[in-house]
Amino acid sequence: MNPVAVLRASHLVTLTGPARPRVGPEMLDLAIIRDGGMLIRAGLIETVAPSEEIERALPNDAEVFDAAGRIVLPGFVDAHAHPVFGGNRVDEFEMRAGGATYEEIAANGGGIRSTVRQTRAASEEELLLQAQKRAEWFLRCGTTTMEAKSGYGLSVDEELKILRVIRQLNETTAIEFVPTFLGAHAIPDEFDGRPDQYADCVVHEMLPEVVRQDLAEACDIFCEEGYFDAAATRRILGAAKAAGLMLRVHADQLTNSGGAALAAELGALTADHLEQTDDVGIAALRKAAVQPVLLPGSVYALGKTGYPKARAMIESGLAVVLATDFNPGSSPTPSIPMILSLAATQMKMTPAEAVTAATINAAYSLRRGDKIGSLEKGKMANFSIFDCEDYRELAYYFGLPQTHAVYVRGRQVYPR
Ligand code: NIG
Ligand code: FE
Repeated sequence: MNPVAVLRASHLVTLTGPARPRVGPEMLDLAIIRDGGMLIRAGLIETVAPSEEIERALPNDAEVFDAAGRIVLPGFVDAHAHPVFGGNRVDEFEMRAGGATYEEIAANGGGIRSTVRQTRAASEEELLLQAQKRAEWFLRCGTTTMEAKSGYGLSVDEELKILRVIRQLNETTAIEFVPTFLGAHAIPDEFDGRPDQYADCVVHEMLPEVVRQDLAEACDIFCEEGYFDAAATRRILGAAKAAGLMLRVHADQLTNSGGAALAAELGALTADHLEQTDDVGIAALRKAAVQPVLLPGSVYALGKTGYPKARAMIESGLAVVLATDFNPGSSPTPSIPMILSLAATQMKMTPAEAVTAATINAAYSLRRGDKIGSLEKGKMANFSIFDCEDYRELAYYFGLPQTHAVYVRGRQVYPR
């Protein structure tokens, strides 16, 4: 592979900085190089500098990409997503437009359980094809690394089926997928009224097999009234931790059940959602250095107005992450630029804080901060070029695709 030079980026958004998640005012510092360039060798970044410096030392055999005054950012890292599922829930979307709530629809047998039925009915090949199509959507929005949760199988065979699809996505698409086991996403129909027996199944049957086959890096749970309570969460995540998995928690989404404090107590890597988390929960996260993963797409798409307290979290020193929560129920968007817009308009994060949250901080929340999330010497050459002159336009314009091209390890993967 020839060396690759990127030249003439109006804003080369490098996010150069300390080798750890960024907190407080650090989230405002994108370390932008104006009229910037990069030299890439063997898929890794060798030099990041003003464009003319790169041009002056241009190797003879370099392939040149002219950004022509557009902006260049690190590939987005989407740290919370549910991309593998059968079918969709467009009928529930229409019911919510008619006034039904997410909770009512779930209580009537819809919601996650509806997707579980559709996922079980799909073959592994069908699921892979559907998810590959979605992976293209993510790439087209500038995402080059993403988390992928199971959670729509809810039996040993069906959860393993989803996790194998995630493994195949890694092998067949340009995106790097980071797998998370979410067997504790809902109580499946066949365990109705027997939550303890289902937790037994997760702990004694699913978890050991997931770990034995090395199909997940982390274990997640939907800690919520009517799903998994604090006792079940302690039990399932305790077993996952003992088995060597990292922990992530869907916490305080619909009600404040002390999920954030529980995530802190259990030493989770991330606590996600946090729409209902109060100052006590924020303080607990801070003390345990848990990264909050905020998912404004799910508040927006459910037609709600209770966004998480991003400002209080940043001001308390938490290394905030933003993600799509892409899923068929509460957040059917693969677009990080849309999330940047919501972060700015609904949570009063500045565009710079939002970009930091969806790149370097997200990379650390997936334990990949040393390899991706910023454009620095030695890191992977994963980056996107957008048709803007100023990085703030990414969050400002919304509802239109601004992606010009996406690169993974120095190779153009979009458009193909
Ligand atoms: O993160 N809260 C639980 N899980 C998803 C919703 C899943 C679904 O509705 O299918 C979420 O919002
Ligand atoms: Fe989720």
